Amino acid sequence: MAFELTQEQEMIRLMARDFARKELEPYAGKWEEEGIFPEAAIKKMGELGLLGMMIPVEYDGSGAGAVSYCLALQEIAYSCASTAVTMSVANLATDPIFKYGTEEQKNKYLKPIARGEKIGSFAVTEPEAGSDPGSMTTRAEDKGDYYLINGSKVFITTGAYAGVFILIARTGPEKTNRGLSAFILTPDMAGFKVGRKENKMGLRASNTVELLFEDCIMPKENLLGREGLGFKIAMVALDSGRIGIASQSVGIARACLHEAIEYAKTRKQFGRNISSFQAIQWMIADTATEIEAAHWLTLSAAHTKDQGLPFTREASMAKLFASEMANRAAYRALQIHGGYGYMREYKIERLYRDARVTTIYEGTSEVQRIVISREVMAD
Ligand code: CAA
Repeated sequence: MAFELTQEQEMIRLMARDFARKELEPYAGKWEEEGIFPEAAIKKMGELGLLGMMIPVEYDGSGAGAVSYCLALQEIAYSCASTAVTMSVANLATDPIFKYGTEEQKNKYLKPIARGEKIGSFAVTEPEAGSDPGSMTTRAEDKGDYYLINGSKVFITTGAYAGVFILIARTGPEKTNRGLSAFILTPDMAGFKVGRKENKMGLRASNTVELLFEDCIMPKENLLGREGLGFKIAMVALDSGRIGIASQSVGIARACLHEAIEYAKTRKQFGRNISSFQAIQWMIADTATEIEAAHWLTLSAAHTKDQGLPFTREASMAKLFASEMANRAAYRALQIHGGYGYMREYKIERLYRDARVTTIYEGTSEVQRIVISREVMAD
């Protein structure tokens, strides 16, 4: 059993680290504070191949694989958690077209997002359908030559900037998973509109919006797979998405650990640096240990995916553990900062807010436990 990264994986990690430290980290605080979506930086990430990492070169992806993707995403998240979620969802959106698209769909829609020329997005969640996507009500009505889409989506990452969306909508009976279908949506489609931008607690430099469909005309050839396959396509995409969020969580936790150590080494109380107190050392030890565990759990899920094996259980375990761990890491790091950590001038305040959503999106911790327990008990 080899625990070593290949030379290529190590190179990708260093390339992402270099990019993140130079092009993201110096600006991440300002972007977050002012709610600026870093379009130019995302464009550069596209040019570096970071938005189509799991797509083979044949379809203009970088063919780097899931392990490299996780390593790169950890580095991006360490410097800017907002940019990391944009990267994660962009990569997630490539997966369904690669797996279920026709050659024509791959040429027309997959290649531009894999090259990073367009950003991919994933539109599943609705106001009344979060953990339970099977209850969604956005409907795609078959009109012969086209589908007519009516309804709305909420909390859509990169919705105002995306060039290609994977849209899940209902073509069959209400409240059934098998009544859902997947479509490739582009923002120029008549009847489609980007709605309200959300005012979020954290990740304020990522774009999160509502999508509105009023008699939106969806060409028949944009159906992905076949009618009724939408729920499955969404679940398969989320398996990949969840290793992305696990990686984002590891990156955020590493940044928290770094801030905690730096602060503890310079903050003096009772005449000593607080890093000399065992209470602080134990918090640092616990965080460092948990980061290592989350890192390897995530890479193990990614490695399973790279081998072409089922990885649903592994992805959910990595997402559950890493996201809960990132919140513990942020909590401890803020605790080490004391009152200063509660102030906006300190980076830990942003990291604490950024970490919070990782246990919620792409399936809450409770949903991950449903997936894991079902898989484990079926074994
Ligand atoms: N791979 C392939 N097929 C799968 C699958 C997977 N991982 N998971 C389920 N399926 C299939 C099942 O085999 C089943 O197939 P059949 O109908 O042929 O039997 C079908 O899908 C239905 O599965 P379930 O019975 O398990 O479905 P359920 O209604 O009980 O739901 C759930 C299970 C795990 C709770 C699921 O609904 C779920 O994951 N919910 C969370 C949704 C979510 O993560 N949303 C995130 C939105 S996107 C986002 O957050 C992105 C962002 O912006 C950051």
